[in-house]
Amino acid sequence: MKSVRKAVFPVAGLGTRFLPATKAFAKELLPIVDRPLIQYAVDEAREAGIKQMIFVTGRGKVGLEDYFDIAFELETVMRGRGKSLEMLEPTRSQPGSIASVRQQEPLGLGHAVWCARDIIGDEPFAVLLPDDLMVGKPGCLAQMMQAYDKVGGNIICVQEVPREKTASYGVIAPGTADGKLTEVKGLVEKPRPEDAPSNLAVVGRYILQPEVMRILEDKETGAGGEIQLTDAMAKLIGTQPFHGLTFDGQRHDCGDKTGFVIANIALALDRHDVGPAVRAFIADIA
Ligand code: G1P
Repeated sequence: MKSVRKAVFPVAGLGTRFLPATKAFAKELLPIVDRPLIQYAVDEAREAGIKQMIFVTGRGKVGLEDYFDIAFELETVMRGRGKSLEMLEPTRSQPGSIASVRQQEPLGLGHAVWCARDIIGDEPFAVLLPDDLMVGKPGCLAQMMQAYDKVGGNIICVQEVPREKTASYGVIAPGTADGKLTEVKGLVEKPRPEDAPSNLAVVGRYILQPEVMRILEDKETGAGGEIQLTDAMAKLIGTQPFHGLTFDGQRHDCGDKTGFVIANIALALDRHDVGPAVRAFIADIA
C-alpha cells in the first residue's frame, strides 16, 4: 500500500460570504486568534505526515504563497530591533514542499482537486478544506491516517448533522459500522432532507486513491451545475474500499460567519495567553 505524502488544499474560493473583509486578501488568511485558517490546515497535514502541500489557488490569492515564504524585510527589521522570530516558525516550510496550481474558473470542488492531478500523479493523496477547522488530538487527518493504515482505499471524514442541514453537505449511505469506521455504500451531494440517505455528512477531509482523478477528467456536473468531488468519489464505491471515519474532536465551520466567530471564541478560551481574559469577559456579559 502506497503511503499518503501529498495533500491538496482547494483555496481558490472567492470568500464572498466574508466581504468586505476578503475583498483584497484570501479568506484562508482570516485569523482564528492569531493564526490564519490555512495555517491550521497545513499544521494538521504536517502532523499526519504529509510532505507536499499543493494549493489550488486563483487570482488574487498570492498572499497564501507569500505567507509560507521567508519575509526578508520583516525578519531583517525584527532582528534589527532584537525581536524574537519564534512567532514566524509555523510559517516556515521545507524548500519545495509547497506547490501551487491555479484553478482558472470556479467550476466546483471536483474540478479544483483535478487541477492538481499532474502533481499528484499515481499516488494516494489527502484533501483538506481549510474552511473546516478540525480541533482534535491527534488531529483529524492523523486519525484518518491511522484508519487508512488498517483498511486502505478511500477514507472521508464524516459527522452527524441535523437532518434539516443535509442540503449543505455531501451525505453518505452508510453500510456496516465498526467503531468509528463506517462502510460507505453511496454518496449524494447536497440532498434535500427528504432525499438524504442518512444524516452522516462529509466534512472537509479526504484520503483518496488517484483513480478519482480519472473520473474527474470526465467533467460531469452535478449539484449546483458544478463538478462535484462527491459524485466522482461515489463512482469509486464498489471498486475500492471506501469508509467514513467519525472524527474524535470538534469541527468548526469557518466558511460561515457564525462558525468563524465561535471558532475564535473556542480557540481563544483554550489558550494560556488570551484565554483567561476572554473567559472573564464572557462571564461578565453572560
Ligand atoms: C463541500 C463538499 C461537501 C462537503 C462540504 C464540507 O461543500 O462539496 O460534500 O460536505 O464541503 O464542508 P461546500 O461547503 O464547498 O459547499
